[in-house]
Amino acid sequence: MPAEELILSTQEAGDARSASDAGSGAVVCDVLTEVVEILPNVRLLKGRLSSRASSQLLQEEGLADSDLIPGNYEGGFKLWECAIDLARFMCQHFSIDYFDQHAYPQLPGLPRVLELGCGQGIPGILLLKAGAEVHFQDYNREVLTALTAPNVTANTADNNRQAEGHSFPRSRFFSGDWATLPTLLEKEGLLGTYDIILSAETIYSLDSQQQLLSCIKQCLRPTTGQAWVAAKSYYFGVGGGTASFIRLVEKDGTFNVKTIDVINDGASNKREILTLKFKR
Ligand SMILES: C[S@@+](CC[C@H](N)C(=O)[O-])C[C@H]1O[C@@H](n2cnc3c(N)ncnc32)[C@H](O)[C@@H]1O
Repeated sequence: MPAEELILSTQEAGDARSASDAGSGAVVCDVLTEVVEILPNVRLLKGRLSSRASSQLLQEEGLADSDLIPGNYEGGFKLWECAIDLARFMCQHFSIDYFDQHAYPQLPGLPRVLELGCGQGIPGILLLKAGAEVHFQDYNREVLTALTAPNVTANTADNNRQAEGHSFPRSRFFSGDWATLPTLLEKEGLLGTYDIILSAETIYSLDSQQQLLSCIKQCLRPTTGQAWVAAKSYYFGVGGGTASFIRLVEKDGTFNVKTIDVINDGASNKREILTLKFKR
């Protein structure tokens, strides 16, 4: 699936939230808005698509029963647990503990961030609200148009007013696969310019871990950039997980990789947050 940039307006994204099936085969968005609690003082909004809408958007029957359809749909409509772990970890790392409509904490240096495999985009939206420039990538353009971009709009209402509803403040959206994203970013002058890369629940497949690592290597700002990857230790049924990804990163030799948080709440298998920093 070749990478492309989606040029979206906040107006369209707002409309997508309330649009209903016009019977034309056009985008169907039965979207409920829900609150995600990252910390007691940090809450974000997310959308939830009905299973009918997600199946129709991808023209794929039975999507509701399946988390993934390899090569077609990679799971982005759903909010996965490690995305919340990563957002919570970002709050601790950047001391973000309070959002209200008018006072956002500001990140030092206002970094440029790329969220790879963003789905709902919750970790990226958190840093966007804290002042970063954030680019969102998902395999499926339908995920970006029906959920990620509307989530950005819903969570940054104040900033949107400043931008008069025409374009997204400090955010861009890229669909397609990790293998072709670097070429597109290079044309846009963005390759090697990301200070932070975030990625949650994206290393479940052994087949695509190499693609992801190579994309991270090319997109991060040399020397100072760093990536945070949140994932389960092992994905039953698909075979990937943190252990195999750590082995791959170590073999590649570009980064020091460290497990910086382990979440073992008994609700699912063990989850981890990894950091990748360039070797000096
Ligand atoms: C399980 S979803 C996780 C979504 C979100 N990060 C979360 O945790 O809620 C995996 C995401 O990885 C991305 N993905 C998986 N394989 C990919 C590939 N080969 N190229 C690009 N993106 C891919 C998709 O965009 C998909 O949304």
